[in-house]
Amino acid sequence: MVKKIAVLAGDGIGPEVMSEALRVLKTVLPEKDWCFEAGLIGGAAYEKCGKHFPEETLTLCKNSDAILFGSVGGPLSEQHLPKWQGCESNSLLSLRKAFKFHANLRPITVWPALFPLSPLKESVLEKGVDLLIVRELLGDCYFGDHHRSGDIGYRKASDVAEYTEDQIKSIAEVAFNAALKRRKKVCSVHKANVLATSQLWRDVVRETARNYPDVTLEEMLVDNCAMQIVREPSAFDVIVTTNMFGDILSDIGAVLPGSLGVTPSASLNKDGFGMYEPSGGSAPDIVGQGIANPIAQILSAALLLRHSFQLHHEAEMIESAVAKTIQSHNVTPDLLPHNRRSEGCTTKKVTDEIISFL
Ligand code: NAD
Ligand code: IPM
Ligand code: MN
Repeated sequence: MVKKIAVLAGDGIGPEVMSEALRVLKTVLPEKDWCFEAGLIGGAAYEKCGKHFPEETLTLCKNSDAILFGSVGGPLSEQHLPKWQGCESNSLLSLRKAFKFHANLRPITVWPALFPLSPLKESVLEKGVDLLIVRELLGDCYFGDHHRSGDIGYRKASDVAEYTEDQIKSIAEVAFNAALKRRKKVCSVHKANVLATSQLWRDVVRETARNYPDVTLEEMLVDNCAMQIVREPSAFDVIVTTNMFGDILSDIGAVLPGSLGVTPSASLNKDGFGMYEPSGGSAPDIVGQGIANPIAQILSAALLLRHSFQLHHEAEMIESAVAKTIQSHNVTPDLLPHNRRSEGCTTKKVTDEIISFL
């Protein structure tokens, strides 16, 4: 049976890096068995049909075996335009909700070839950085009521953060099962010294841990965790945390390899259906320059092959070609120190290099 991938490139650098990921996928997959169908999402969809998440895109995703997603959203300076108002909520968050993607896996690895490029000291990186952030994706203040009221001088706003026991148990199970296949350590990250949602989080993760006697459970308050991720990243195996904390910690984690341009992610529901996207966004500051790093999108495609189709060999081929490309120092400017950015390669050149290693 032909496998169908919904391709939602979106905004900003999304289309620039998506075309590169498709080139890589088409190199490793037999053409006759795969079909890639593009759908509109985000500001790009709004421009064509006045909606951030058109019905046709939802239908395309429902009729597909997996979703490859680029990024959505516009520059901060243009947020007042209708095209960008509510863009991320209407598109990305609606997609997550529609398919009940409760688990967001954000692996962060620093390949030895990246050591000289990383902002961290080699002595820190040499201990080995291979951590997996398991971010809950359907709860917290993302999906509670958002409210604004009052006139100037008396304005108020609130965002309701909620978690149910079930939601926490499910994501904790994802984290413990992932840890069983790794170094068998889970760090539960919360803010239980202040938040009720975090106290429930702490308790339910502890209770779930009893079913995983082979996994060691540690706990950390989120502010300390943010520091420890850059201070001693080798201490972490799996981090399991809430929607908001996971969002922030995964950007902090992207400092380790040196750029958001190399960190992929997988969003999965309980039926194993998945959407794969870079952890970063539409990068309006570099759009149209041909220098966006394609690696996060390409590694997201590798995660798609692994998680949605169990094509472990093909996924590893792509990951190893990416590592070799970095080793050959053919990287985009984001991975270079400021004074050497002009030496960076283009998006296309990096992908050509990756394909040459496949
Ligand atoms: P961003 O992640 O787009 O960019 C942050 C920094 O990382 C920028 O300097 C950018 O140039 C760099 N960067 C990110 N990806 C890169 C890549 N592939 N190659 C090279 N450099 C890269 O975050 P932002 O600027 O805060 O947000 C811009 C827009 O993107 C906003 O509208 C935001 O809501 C949206 N966003 C979307 C997603 C998504 O679609 N999943 C994720 C994050 C942010
Ligand atoms: C991410 C993004 C999204 C999030 C935004 C664009 C809604 O930052 O995927 O990390 O906060 O989840
Ligand atoms: Mn984010």
